[in-house]
Amino acid sequence: MYVGVDYYPEHWPVERWETDAALMQKAGFNVVRMAEFAWVNLEPEEGTFEFGWLDRILSILVKRGIRAILGTPTAVMPAWVARKYPETLAEEKTGQRTVWGVRKNNCFTSGTYRLLSERITRAMAEHFAHTPNVIGWQTDNEFGGPFCFCDSCRADFQDWLKRKYRTLDALNKALGTHFWGHLYKDWAEIQLPVDDKSHNPSLCLDHRRYHSWLNVRFQRDQVRILRRLCPKQFVTHNFMGFAMDVIYFDLAEDLDHVSWDNYPVWGVPTIPIGASAQADLMRGLKKKNFWIMEQTAGPGGWSTFGRNPRPGEIRKVSYQQMAHGSDAQIWFRWRSCTAGREQYWHGLLGHDGRPLRRYREAARYASELHKLEKELQGTTVKADVAIVFDYDSFWAFQIQPSYELRNNYIQAIHRFYDALFRAGVGADFVKTTDDLSKYRVVLAPHLYVLPDAVARNLNDYVAKGGILVTDCRTGVKTETSLCHDRTLPGLLSKMLGITIEEYEQVPADAPYAVVGRKDIDGQFTAFRYADWLTPKGAEALAGYTAWHMKDFAAATRHAFGKGLGYYVGTILKEDGFYDTLMADVLGRAKVRPALAPPEGVEVSVRQGEGRKLLFLINHTEEVKTVAVPRGKRELLSGKITGPALELGRYDVAVLRLR
Ligand code: GAL
Ligand code: ZN
Repeated sequence: MYVGVDYYPEHWPVERWETDAALMQKAGFNVVRMAEFAWVNLEPEEGTFEFGWLDRILSILVKRGIRAILGTPTAVMPAWVARKYPETLAEEKTGQRTVWGVRKNNCFTSGTYRLLSERITRAMAEHFAHTPNVIGWQTDNEFGGPFCFCDSCRADFQDWLKRKYRTLDALNKALGTHFWGHLYKDWAEIQLPVDDKSHNPSLCLDHRRYHSWLNVRFQRDQVRILRRLCPKQFVTHNFMGFAMDVIYFDLAEDLDHVSWDNYPVWGVPTIPIGASAQADLMRGLKKKNFWIMEQTAGPGGWSTFGRNPRPGEIRKVSYQQMAHGSDAQIWFRWRSCTAGREQYWHGLLGHDGRPLRRYREAARYASELHKLEKELQGTTVKADVAIVFDYDSFWAFQIQPSYELRNNYIQAIHRFYDALFRAGVGADFVKTTDDLSKYRVVLAPHLYVLPDAVARNLNDYVAKGGILVTDCRTGVKTETSLCHDRTLPGLLSKMLGITIEEYEQVPADAPYAVVGRKDIDGQFTAFRYADWLTPKGAEALAGYTAWHMKDFAAATRHAFGKGLGYYVGTILKEDGFYDTLMADVLGRAKVRPALAPPEGVEVSVRQGEGRKLLFLINHTEEVKTVAVPRGKRELLSGKITGPALELGRYDVAVLRLR
C-alpha cells in the first residue's frame, strides 16, 4: 500500500532533492506523484524533449525505496503552445480567447492541442515505460473545465448531436424546439447554449453531456498510448468527488482505478460527512477501492487561506478515506511553494522546508499504515444500501432547479446519506442502469430525469423484493429533459401506490406543518417544495395539517410485488424526519449497523478474505465512549476490547471483528 506526497522537484534547487528524498523515506513514504504541470520542463520547445531532470530525481527516489506516478502534463500548456497555436486556447462565451496564464485553458476539440497532447504523452510513455520505480500514470489533472465556445467546438457539438439523433426531425422532437419558434432547419444553425437559465433546457442538458464526452475522449487518446507503450504501469486520474462537469462513471471506464483529491478541512471544524459520501461515490465508479491522490496537508488558499488542520486532523481524515476504501494516501503537497498562485496552499512542510508537526503527523499515519497493511489487503466496503447517482438529474436541476436551493441534487442525496451515516450504515453509489438486485435498500432521491428504462429497472427491483426510497421531483423529466406527459410519478405510480396531480414551491416564510401518521412520530416542517400527494393504495406515513393540504400525504409506503416503495413528497427541515424514516426502512430491510455510533463518531466496515475490520473515527474534539463487541483486537494499539472503547479527540480505532 502506498503513502506519500505530491512532489514538485522542479520548484526546488537540485541540491535539495536528496534532503527531500531522505525526509520522505524517514517518514515512511513510498510514493510521490510528479510532473503533472511540468510540460514546459519536459518539452521546452516544440518536439525537443528533456527528461534528464526527471530521470535524476527518479533515481534519487528509487534509492530511498520511493516509487512514482507521473502525470501527463496537459493541464497547463506551455507559453510557447499558446503563442504558436492560439487556436488551442479555449474561447469564452463572448468569443474572446482565454488569456494564457492560469491552467486548464485549452480547447478540447482543437486538433492541434490533441496532437500536442498525444505527442508529449507518447514521448513520456516511451521514455519512462521501463523506469523501475515509475508504477503508474495520472492523466492530465482534474478533468472538468473549461467550457469552450469556439467555432470548432460548435461544429463538433453539431456532429455529436447528429450522431445522437441522426435526423434533424428527431432532434427537433427530442429537444422540443417547437417552443419559441426554435425549430432547426439545418444542423449548422445549432448554437452552443451560453446561458443555462434562459436557453432551451433540453439543449443545455445535451451540451453538458457533450462537454463530458469531450473530456472522456481527450483522456482516452492519452490512455490508448499509455496502454500500448506502458502495459506494466497503471493509469489513473485525480477525480474531484462531487464535481459535476464530467460523468465520472464514463471517465473511470478507461482507467485501472480511480483516485481523488479530498480537501475536507475548511471553516469551523465539523464532521466531514461530505468526504465520506464522495469517497463512496469514488469507490462506486469502478466498484473497487480507490486512491487519495491529493489531500489536505495544511491551510489552503489561492489568496487568503483556510485554517490549519488541528493536531490529529490530518491523520483522522486520512483514516476516514481508508475506512471507505482508499488504498493509498498522498498529501498535497510535500512542501509549500515560495512562488506562484499556490504559495498559500500549504504542504506538509512549510516554506522553510523543515519537517515539523504536520510532517510528523503524516509520518505517524504512514507507520500505522505499514502496520495495518496486511490486514487491509483484499478488503473493501460491502454495502446493503445503494444510492442512485445520476449526472443527468444533477444537470437538469442546475438548469431548472424547480425550487430555490442551489445544488439541490447533492443536498437531496445528503439528506438520506446523512441519516445513514448517523445510523452507522454504509452505502454504495450506483448508476441508474446498474443491476440493483444485490441491495436490500435502494435510495433514489430527486431522480429528476427518468427515462422509461430506468423506471422499469426500479419497478422490477421492488417487484422482486427490493425496498426503494425516492422523493419529490423524481420522474419529472424525460431523457432529453422534456416533461413527461403522464400524471406524476409516471411509470412509478403503480409501484409507489400514489399519484401527484399538483405540486408547488413552498414559500420560505410559509412552510407547512407535517405530522407523523404511521410508523413516523412527531411534528416536522415541510419547506421549499410540496407534492400534493394522493395515496392510491399506499399508506400515509406522514401528512400535512394545513386546511387545504389535509387530504394529501407527505410521505408514503406501498407494498408492491415482494418489495416496498417509499415516497417523500416534500423536503423536511428536521434531520429527525429522515432518521425516523430510515429507521423504518432499515428495520424492514433487516439492515443493521456493525454498531450504533455515538454522535460524531463514524463507523465503517471493510471486509474480504475472511476478515472484517471495523473503523471507528471520532470526528469531535471530545472524548467519546463507544460500546463495542468484547474480545476483539484493536489493531493500532494491539489491545483486546472490553465492553467499551474510549476514543480521544480526533482519534481512530480499527477493530478486527473477524
Ligand atoms: C487541486 C489541484 C492541485 C492544486 C490543489 C490546490 O484541485 O489538483 O493541483 O491546485 O487543488 O489548489
Ligand atoms: Zn473550442
